[in-house]
Amino acid sequence: MAKALALQGITKRFPLVLANDRIGLDLEWGEVLALVGENGAGKSTLMRIVYGLLPPDRGEMWVAGRPYRPKSPLDAIRAGIGMVHQHFMLVEPFTVLENLVLGLEPGSPFFLNLEQARRRASALMEELGFQVPLDERIENLPVGLQQRVEILKALYREAKILILDEPTAVLTPQEAEELFRFLRAYAAKGNAAIFISHKLKEVLQVSDRVTVIRDGRVVGTVRTPATSLEELARMMVGREVVLRVPKGPARPGEVVLEVEGLEAPPRLKGVSFRVRSGEIVGIAGVEGNGQTELVEALTGLRPHRGVVRYLGKPLPPLARRVREAGVSHIPEDRQARGLVLDFSVRENAVLGDQHRRPFRGFLGFLDGDRLEAHARELVETFDVRPRSTGLSARRFSGGNQQKIVVGRELLRAPRLLVAAQPTRGVDVGAIEFIHQRLVEARDRGLAVLLVSADLSEVLSLADRILVMYEGRIVGELTPEEAKGQPEGYLEERLGLLMAGVPA
Ligand SMILES: Nc1ncnc2c1ncn2[C@@H]1O[C@H](COP(=O)(O)OP(=O)(O)O)[C@@H](O)[C@H]1O
Ligand SMILES: [Mg+2]
Repeated sequence: MAKALALQGITKRFPLVLANDRIGLDLEWGEVLALVGENGAGKSTLMRIVYGLLPPDRGEMWVAGRPYRPKSPLDAIRAGIGMVHQHFMLVEPFTVLENLVLGLEPGSPFFLNLEQARRRASALMEELGFQVPLDERIENLPVGLQQRVEILKALYREAKILILDEPTAVLTPQEAEELFRFLRAYAAKGNAAIFISHKLKEVLQVSDRVTVIRDGRVVGTVRTPATSLEELARMMVGREVVLRVPKGPARPGEVVLEVEGLEAPPRLKGVSFRVRSGEIVGIAGVEGNGQTELVEALTGLRPHRGVVRYLGKPLPPLARRVREAGVSHIPEDRQARGLVLDFSVRENAVLGDQHRRPFRGFLGFLDGDRLEAHARELVETFDVRPRSTGLSARRFSGGNQQKIVVGRELLRAPRLLVAAQPTRGVDVGAIEFIHQRLVEARDRGLAVLLVSADLSEVLSLADRILVMYEGRIVGELTPEEAKGQPEGYLEERLGLLMAGVPA
């Protein structure tokens, strides 16, 4: 039988980069194919070509054995292809139902009146085993449900081939599990799906085969039970990747941060803990259990009650004073808080410290030579690519943007680092690099508070793990407890605590 989709020699050049370089790829009916690669590898570009959003410079495509040259997404939809984009394309003020029929031409078999559409959508949801409120406006739906609407919309148009571009980036682990179940069932009915991700664990979980792309080229395709995290990471990055940073035991020194009964609305209900120099204390928990409030309270960004002592003295509740005292902060949203995207690396490298010596010189003007030297040190030491200090932050990939933030926060030689989701949305190569820098900083005596929703990150970095649930700390674990226990012991205990099940 002809393949669901076949690509040959697909090439696409943008002014600055060869995004797709002679890409060939096959998708079989009945399978989930994962497309993996680091940020900027060319995955989205390739899928936008398949969906008719971009014309390739060169190359051929076939759908179900027939030559396929889409001029727009309409041609893709006609060929039975649906796509769930990385950034949703729904019309926010419209309802779910309106979005389902939107864009269909009057002559199309699915252009029915809204009541017929409702019946069809309900039947479809029944079959899929998931529900979305059809009369709710898109803007009132949480992202997890918006994604279901996107899927529903594709299936409403009878997509037999479904493309999902980084669909789990916005989902909770439970929502991701549901998505995977749906994908497996969809493929089992004889359809085919392409699932883009750079999270290798979930790739192994959901797909039958994995095609790895690096720098616009296909590196190879492997079958899932046969491959491993290590092999995929190596293919993606082009070298061996240490998935777990080598790390000696912590040698904790003086108490750097002491928190007592800290409360911050709406979700932080009272936490007490200490962080010493030379140790990484991890805060684990499902997001939305007060972690954001905790980080913002500690860094002077949010009003709070309770005691925060830093090196034995109360910490002033003002972001600028907190920074001046030697507290660094890696914010959870690098694009909103970590960087000014339109500023150059040179400017971003001193963000938050620009009013201080040594950057502010005679008469208060910023000292250009010092800024340049500092930015140069940052891009060199933190392996920012390209090694440009003049380029605006916007022009760097996510992983490199995060290295700029991490570099800036560590180079100012802080005593305490509050690191929130330090590797979120970052590729494995950059994760490895950032983890290594954090462990080195710990070994030089830095006190690190690591807040992360990524359990494997907490497990590989933290010397002690505190679990937050509904605004409180509900348990403390150390990696030592896992000694002599079966594989997965800590994960299971953490998982239970995170779900609010008392230990
Ligand atoms: N519309 C565009 N114009 C110019 N360059 C682009 C455009 N879209 C993507 N690129 C560049 O092409 C490369 C591949 O990007 P993309 O396909 O989005 O990668 P991925 O989805 O794998 O992260 C990147 O270097 C990106 O900056
Ligand atoms: Mg992409």
